[in-house]
Amino acid sequence: MSRYKNKEILVLPEVYTPAEDSFLLVEAVLRELRPSDRVLEIGTGSGIVSACVKERASVIATDINPYAVKCARLNGIDSIRADLFNGIKGRFDLVVFNPPYLPSDKKLNDWLDCAWDGGEDGRAIISRFLCHVQDHLTESGRFLLLVSSLSGVDAIMDKMASLGFIVEEVLSEKYFFERLTVLKGRVANKSRR
Ligand SMILES: C[S@@+](CC[C@H](N)C(=O)[O-])C[C@H]1O[C@@H](n2cnc3c(N)ncnc32)[C@H](O)[C@@H]1O
Repeated sequence: MSRYKNKEILVLPEVYTPAEDSFLLVEAVLRELRPSDRVLEIGTGSGIVSACVKERASVIATDINPYAVKCARLNGIDSIRADLFNGIKGRFDLVVFNPPYLPSDKKLNDWLDCAWDGGEDGRAIISRFLCHVQDHLTESGRFLLLVSSLSGVDAIMDKMASLGFIVEEVLSEKYFFERLTVLKGRVANKSRR
């Protein structure tokens, strides 16, 4: 079990235990969320972020880890097994993702490794996410992405800008060995708030 504010979340052993990154993303999402939003969470893990969203808006979630999908479902989240957006139909007002972001050159050994292993530069999954997120956003849609100083925030912001997104830092906190930041992206060439 994991606890966040008044919320108790079941966490299966093969699933990422909610931590500072999860909680920072929850804070950012709750600030950004509008009641009419249709929300998609990528990489839901235990379902902690979606569970907080679900009290205020409609949400569905994905994860590549089958145990995470099971765990999120046990926590009441409508979740689907998928590699990022594969097989996800439709568009969403808000897409949120706390990705695996630690640089690593080792082979994935188990499902828990998928929670943190971001490939050589820490940006392998983030880059794939950024290349596809626009296809799943409504006209006024936006996304929130948790990033770490360990995976190069400037490089991620540059990539977002090069893909045509307006980028904003919405929340940032320094922890013992890294700074965590939540970035917001929205499409530049349409009228947005
Ligand atoms: C850092 S954990 C975050 C879990 C949860 N959202 C939280 O904040 O506590 C990253 C999650 O992304 C999932 N993940 C990793 N690669 C993925 C991919 N290609 N497609 C979908 N989910 C993925 C992992 O299995 C893991 O559950």
